[in-house]
Amino acid sequence: MRVDEVGVETLGKLLVVYPWTQRFFESFGNLASADAIMGNTKVKAHDKKILDSFTEGLMHVDHLKCVFVLLSELHCKNLHVSPENIRLHGKILVITVVQNFGKEFTPEFLAAYQKVVAGVANALTYKYH
Ligand code: HEM
Repeated sequence: MRVDEVGVETLGKLLVVYPWTQRFFESFGNLASADAIMGNTKVKAHDKKILDSFTEGLMHVDHLKCVFVLLSELHCKNLHVSPENIRLHGKILVITVVQNFGKEFTPEFLAAYQKVVAGVANALTYKYH
């Protein structure tokens, strides 16, 4: 994924649209308003970390559970991020990418992209099962 073109804003949008997800990021400082969240440098830095990790996963689509095994441990056992929150992030990711690459997103491409986003979410929450 061309992260620089998409912009690192999926985590920010998640925190704005689904405010209960803010509780995982209380140490990140000011999350008091949409502007504060979208301008928060820690949110942006973490957003980039997530998108880079997601992009790494895309390079190994046939082995997503292996690629994300450690992150699955982290998100499930240590951070207790529920599968639903990961899926919500995936939906925002798809919307953000479609907004940025609208014309390139044929229905077939969109269907494939949604499938891989769901696959990553499944791999990331695997340790819940
Ligand atoms: C940490 C990836 C979704 C909450 C991380 C890290 C990565 C990552 C690479 C850093 C791990 C480390 O430093 O060792 C991903 C990916 C996601 C995703 C690929 C989805 C595609 C989410 C969601 C939430 C979340 C939806 C919460 C709503 C966290 C938290 C941390 C973290 C709280 C630790 C932050 C800190 O204190 O530094 N994630 N993540 N993640 N993630 Fe995720």
